[in-house]
Amino acid sequence: MHPRASEQFDPRATPYLDTASYGLPPASTIEVLEDALRTWQRGTADWIRDWDPAGDRCRPLAAQLLGSRPEEVALLPAVSVGVGVALSMLSPGDEILIPDDEFASVLLPALVAAERGGLRVRRVPFAALADSIHIDTALVMTSHVRSNDGGVQDLGVLAARAHDVGAKVLVDATHSAGILPIDASDLGLDVVLAAAYKHLLCPRGVALMSVASDLTSSLAPWAASWRSAGEPYDHYYGGDLSVLAATAARFDVSLAWHAWIGAEKSLEFLCSVPMAERTGWCVGLADHLAARLGLTPTGSSILAIPLVRPERARAALKEVGITTSGRGPRIRASFHLYNDMSEANLIAEVIQPFVDSRDSHQLGVRTP
Ligand SMILES: Cc1ncc(COP(=O)(O)O)c(C=O)c1O
Repeated sequence: MHPRASEQFDPRATPYLDTASYGLPPASTIEVLEDALRTWQRGTADWIRDWDPAGDRCRPLAAQLLGSRPEEVALLPAVSVGVGVALSMLSPGDEILIPDDEFASVLLPALVAAERGGLRVRRVPFAALADSIHIDTALVMTSHVRSNDGGVQDLGVLAARAHDVGAKVLVDATHSAGILPIDASDLGLDVVLAAAYKHLLCPRGVALMSVASDLTSSLAPWAASWRSAGEPYDHYYGGDLSVLAATAARFDVSLAWHAWIGAEKSLEFLCSVPMAERTGWCVGLADHLAARLGLTPTGSSILAIPLVRPERARAALKEVGITTSGRGPRIRASFHLYNDMSEANLIAEVIQPFVDSRDSHQLGVRTP
């Protein structure tokens, strides 16, 4: 494992190569969660002092990971919630451009908005997204890294094309945040979302949304609550919309306390490892596996492996205790700082006899 990870993770007997399904928590995350659970059990916690502010302390960490500013970060429970809010920037007749097999938490809110709000959705292949932007496109939505095969969208090219025609850009960075650099401010990405329970190593129930400052007032805070107020602990009843935060905190959804307490420690751990080291380590392991199997590297930490005799291949992986995911004729392996070269070599040895070399092109693995 990466030297910094060895302080936070125990050595594993068998490889866990499935961070794309859920990430493993650092020891510091488990410690604060155990403490918080105990004070909950005893009734000794003061939620305003001990629990709720953990979310606000996650904002600067999230900004560092997404390449934005703390005041641009909203605290959400799931990606789809943020997509729904982001779609409020559009007007009837506007066109949304989206990859044809985009993840459901991004695609379905767009389809709902099309049905209920009179928007148009145009679907094109992931690889053709930037070239498909045209003058009528109001919003381009895409995963940065696709969950099914690890394919990477070039956000620089995408943002430049979108800006040429005045279109906005929404990126789902769930499978890139923490692993690949994301420069939301520099690239002018209008909305960046990430579910944090995978590569960001957080508990489920934590998702991050960065909204460019100039867009904040154009989005409808549909999930507004006492938690979206500028002074959340001052206002619970009555009042009007003037109480809402002036920053992206107006999109906050009341926090699942324990999840956010853990999230702070997970994000702190990730930020303690320089970005270039995170990318080099995690993508390096996926690239190494691709090279050993004669597959095209994806440029992300995820690799989909095409198989002949997939059931036999899965049984062989199970026998040596390697955890991966993926259904049908492909498996998906994903790497993090707690993995290392010996694990990449072990899966390469086990899976090599089953690789379908006629299908080295990365297609989709149907798995979340
Ligand atoms: C690309 C992508 N986005 C988002 C999510 C999670 O979405 P949500 O937070 O809406 O459950 C997943 C989960 O597998 C995913 O693969």
